[in-house]
Amino acid sequence: MKRLTKCRALASLLLWAVALLAAAAPRERLSINAGWRFTMGDPPGTSASLRYDVRPEVTASEDGKAADAVPQAAALAAAAQEQVLKPWILPSGNAFISDPARRHRRPAQEPQLDVAYLKPGYDDVAWKRVDLPHDWAIAGPFLETGPYGGVGRLPSWGIGWYRKALDIPASDRGRSIFLDVDGAMSYATVWLNGKLVGGWPYGYNSWRLDLTPYVVPGGSNMLAIRLDNPPESSRWYPGGGIYRNVWLTKMAPIHVAHWGTHVRTARVSRDSAEVSLEVAVDNDSRSGATVSVATAIYALDEQGTRSGQPVAHIQPQRLQVAAGASNVATGSTTIARPRLWGPPPTQHPHRYVAVTTVRRDGVGIDEFETRFGIRDVRMDPDKGMLVNGERIALKGVNNHHDLGALGAAFNVRAAERQLQMLVEMGANALRMSHNPPAPELLELTDRMGIVVIDEVFDVWERKKTALDTHLIFPDWHEQDLRAMIRRDRNHPSIVIWSIGNEVGEQYTGEEGAAIGRKLAAIVRQEDRSRPTMTAMNYARAHMPLPATVDLVSVNYQGAGIRSNPGRFPEFRARFPGKMIFSSESASALSSRGEYQFPVTGALTSSVRPDAGGDWNTHQVSAYELYASDFGTSADRSWSAQDQYPYVAGEFVWSGWDYLGEPTPFYSSRSSYSGIIDLAGFKKDRFYLYQARWRPDLPLAHILPHWTWPGREGKFTPVHVFTSGAEAELFVNGKSQGRKKRAEFEYRLRWDLVTYEPGELKVIAYKEGKEWAASTVRTVGPAAKLDLVPDRSEIAADGADLSFITLHVTDQEGNTVPMAKDNVKFSIEGPGEIVATDNGDPTSFVPFPSTERPAFNGLCLAIVRGKPGQKGAITVRAQAPALQGANVTLQAH
Ligand code: GAL
Repeated sequence: MKRLTKCRALASLLLWAVALLAAAAPRERLSINAGWRFTMGDPPGTSASLRYDVRPEVTASEDGKAADAVPQAAALAAAAQEQVLKPWILPSGNAFISDPARRHRRPAQEPQLDVAYLKPGYDDVAWKRVDLPHDWAIAGPFLETGPYGGVGRLPSWGIGWYRKALDIPASDRGRSIFLDVDGAMSYATVWLNGKLVGGWPYGYNSWRLDLTPYVVPGGSNMLAIRLDNPPESSRWYPGGGIYRNVWLTKMAPIHVAHWGTHVRTARVSRDSAEVSLEVAVDNDSRSGATVSVATAIYALDEQGTRSGQPVAHIQPQRLQVAAGASNVATGSTTIARPRLWGPPPTQHPHRYVAVTTVRRDGVGIDEFETRFGIRDVRMDPDKGMLVNGERIALKGVNNHHDLGALGAAFNVRAAERQLQMLVEMGANALRMSHNPPAPELLELTDRMGIVVIDEVFDVWERKKTALDTHLIFPDWHEQDLRAMIRRDRNHPSIVIWSIGNEVGEQYTGEEGAAIGRKLAAIVRQEDRSRPTMTAMNYARAHMPLPATVDLVSVNYQGAGIRSNPGRFPEFRARFPGKMIFSSESASALSSRGEYQFPVTGALTSSVRPDAGGDWNTHQVSAYELYASDFGTSADRSWSAQDQYPYVAGEFVWSGWDYLGEPTPFYSSRSSYSGIIDLAGFKKDRFYLYQARWRPDLPLAHILPHWTWPGREGKFTPVHVFTSGAEAELFVNGKSQGRKKRAEFEYRLRWDLVTYEPGELKVIAYKEGKEWAASTVRTVGPAAKLDLVPDRSEIAADGADLSFITLHVTDQEGNTVPMAKDNVKFSIEGPGEIVATDNGDPTSFVPFPSTERPAFNGLCLAIVRGKPGQKGAITVRAQAPALQGANVTLQAH
């Protein structure tokens, strides 16, 4: 008897000690990207029991319909009697539903599921081994026929399963353990050890599930994730799979809540700034507690590492947190002579980090970092955007989330390369069209000083495609909107929250506006410091929708389309107190290096057969005067914009080409609207924007190339994009005349140049002085290959990339502008060729192929180092009848 009591006492002492240890163990955030098993499809006969919800049946597929096609009402077969998993998944979003009465209760019964893949003992060795981020569709093959142009002709839809065994040590007993998924496409459902944990339907948001009740510490725990990506659910390539990072986050039961900090800055000047911080603390333990919450603020250096001593402290605050509840500590401090965050080149994106420590009885139980920036941003109806008092014209682009040949699978270096090229062009702003991005992309925009529109939806209740997110909007709009804002609100780069893009509710008057008001109110509850917008291509100033948001953000209609007058003045008259800008401008189209004749004499033209478009090759002329039927050339868009000085700027559609939406040729795989092509090669349009956005950069860019065997004696228009005011063009030394740009003109054009082989030369002038010059020559036949890496040293971490451009050149090393030679790449050393591309929107060569034709002289190989393997990586390229090339990289 005595011995039993002793044993019990010992056991409870042990449990107490474990709990104490767990309570004090520091927070851990572990990447669980490596070593998953993956397969497509459900085990036979199980799909019906695994559905999130019943979906309407899609009978006819359509492709290439206008983005603003008037949708029909959502048709959920809600009456269905069969089991769906929605009741078990809805509670995963409860933290983002403000009204406690509307939160979801998990059903008392567990769902009846007899599915082999869920069973911890199921043998998945036959499944494919994958590391995350993973996009199951990007390897192709392309679907060459059928109505799949809109989604990039890649098989992104379907069901996919991921499994991974997690080793949870016994010492984790008593800790809170969470699964953090940055993005999974889509309708994720998660099981641990065979038990349904929850899930998240929207593919673009980040989400957290509490694994604690399902974890068995001291062994292997089987995590299974099922994704179900509906067909006809996107207007562009969505990708498929767990395409962003996934983490296991472990901490003491009393801890800083998920996205639980909110930094605000006020009274910002060069002399001082007030910084206030809200810290939400969750108590997942069984007893109430009193904790203290204190914060030290440090400056971050350019790389984002903490430097020096704290610049300020927020004094410790006592906080009582009841068991199973949450409470918020609010504190503030003043920072003297703050280093402000602002966009280059006139400002610098300085950042800080708030390091919050939660203590109980003097012992630290959690530490949490919140990065932020101090800046004052105002949206002024007359002056445009003011950052720290300086007017910053919005020189922005829209980008979709795909990374070209790498697909949706997020990669920091690939995203950084996209941004670096945009910055080189002079861009200072990015609209996340039309969904929340990978969190690392916002870390990049913070670091690089690029201002951002963070956008939550492309669709509300009214659909654009048969099975898009209108199906989940009624149940999930609040959770998805609050989740985006709570995740992203501390990023200094975000300056605007967008609640929607060209939503069908533009057409539904008051009814649609009511949804707009509801969403805008949610935004204000979460963050009062940034204005709201919704992008409007249809809604006019007098309609109810524009009044629901803080800014006037119009797609195309501001500057006007074709001969339609611009509607900026209309909006301005109706909303004199709101800042106005183009959330989408231009939608100009072109294929890099494809020049077609004759060339329109107009400022803009829709693409038509033999007028900007080649209906045989499905290429669009690169004279950069052609546009989608609902858009205009850059020139036309600016000529309208510039007449209204109150217009705050623009976001061009689009910065980079993207997979899907290949207007006007839906037989292709990728868009024509990018200023930069899918492979990352600059179209001529790059220089048109650079000349405007970087007026101080001496630039004179000539198009087309000057190698036209067979065009001798024919008119071959020559256009020049320059930051100068005038320029003189010479053909083989003979002047073609000096031209001056008139007001509202953005290029110089010599349309009556007769082609003769030799040399085109332009000299540009600014304020009467020579400003920039450039030359284009007729080149010889293709003779050699040349390889040029963007970086010749990469990290051997299995993520870092080198983008290697292959040039097909003549004997002298000049790129041959129309070369289409078939190239074979090979590699030696600790690296792999992840993908290749050439920027040709019509190419159906699968991205992983190491063999691919050049497109107009260029080809791309993307090389990744192997994790932990250092050394020299040699990439070789060969093409029939041409001298091959090789280049060596170092993996560190
Ligand atoms: C807009 C739409 C974008 C894209 C673009 C193509 O109307 O918002 O998502 O479809 O057109 O130019």
